[in-house]
Amino acid sequence: MTTGTSRALVLERFGSPPRTLRRPLPTRAADETLLRVLAAQVGHLDLNVLDGHFGILPSLPFVPGTEACGTVVASDVHPEGTLVRVRGAGLGLSRDGGWAEHAVAADRAVVPVPPGTDPALACCFFSAAGSAWAAVHDVAALCEGERVLVTGAAGAVGCLAVQLALRAGAEVIGVVGRQAKRAHVPAGAKAVLAGDLSADAVGEPVDALIDTVGGSVLPAALKLVRPGGRAALIGYSAGRELTVDLADFLLADVPLLPVSMMSRAVDLTPVGDRLLAEIASGELNLPIERYTLDRLETAVERLRTGAAIGKVAMTME
Ligand SMILES: NC(=O)c1ccc[n+]([C@@H]2O[C@H](COP(=O)([O-])OP(=O)(O)OC[C@H]3O[C@@H](n4cnc5c(N)ncnc54)[C@H](OP(=O)(O)O)[C@@H]3O)[C@@H](O)[C@H]2O)c1
Repeated sequence: MTTGTSRALVLERFGSPPRTLRRPLPTRAADETLLRVLAAQVGHLDLNVLDGHFGILPSLPFVPGTEACGTVVASDVHPEGTLVRVRGAGLGLSRDGGWAEHAVAADRAVVPVPPGTDPALACCFFSAAGSAWAAVHDVAALCEGERVLVTGAAGAVGCLAVQLALRAGAEVIGVVGRQAKRAHVPAGAKAVLAGDLSADAVGEPVDALIDTVGGSVLPAALKLVRPGGRAALIGYSAGRELTVDLADFLLADVPLLPVSMMSRAVDLTPVGDRLLAEIASGELNLPIERYTLDRLETAVERLRTGAAIGKVAMTME
């Protein structure tokens, strides 16, 4: 049995920042893996949990962190020292998560990653890359020569969706919320400000929309999709409510389809392995901002305000 203590960020009240506490090492059951965490994602889903605004919420006190990377300390499945990423099976939602120096995850939530992989990349690429890939290839199902509008095009999911759509041979128009983000839209895409979204700025109606921001941007972007086109909805960083004029919606005839990593993650694991290799080699670009555990509040603020460029990760060392 592994004993000792380690630090964890503990959420005691929704809406208040977690506190750093030293606690006994978490104990694992037979179908669980104990890991020493090297890096953990600070993601929008984690912010929803901190705020108490999500369909699955933990009882408090609770350690947040829905995605992490670390080395195996004890497991019946994985040899000690294996570098792994963990997400799913309730991690950081219905059971303590990865914002800690040690964490326990269900064995089915543990996926080995190649030795030497950057832990900050391993902890935060999967949801972004998996959802971008599913939106481009499964839901919007882009074909060569089609035109696609991608919102949040300088964000983590959006910048990967732009790169994958370009690689599929699509013409890409990337939408950003603020001027400063234009420079972060991947090369090869045309950048447009969300405030300027119009037929004049975009040209002919697009074949598909991949939306990562929701809010007031989504209805404006939907109007620019051709009848019979497709719209894939991944996220809502600019707002989680949508008001639709149903007469206009029927007239436009554009299906709005959700992309959920909660239901797609298992099927996307092999694709995830490939995308991890491509990001690690620089073939695909995913910027990552890194903060130490004691700088969580800065990390949260960067993500919440949309100031962060790409993914936000917390490193434990
Ligand atoms: N469906 C799934 O399974 C799944 C998987 C992964 C992520 N997601 C969701 O996808 C969304 C994007 O994730 P991400 O990792 O790409 O986030 P991100 O890197 O923070 O990018 C989101 C972009 O949204 C814009 N934004 C943020 N806050 C805003 C605000 N208050 N007002 C206007 N614009 C704002 C920012 O770009 P601008 O400055 O250009 O506006 C930001 O670059 C999130 O809602 C996340 O929860 C869903």
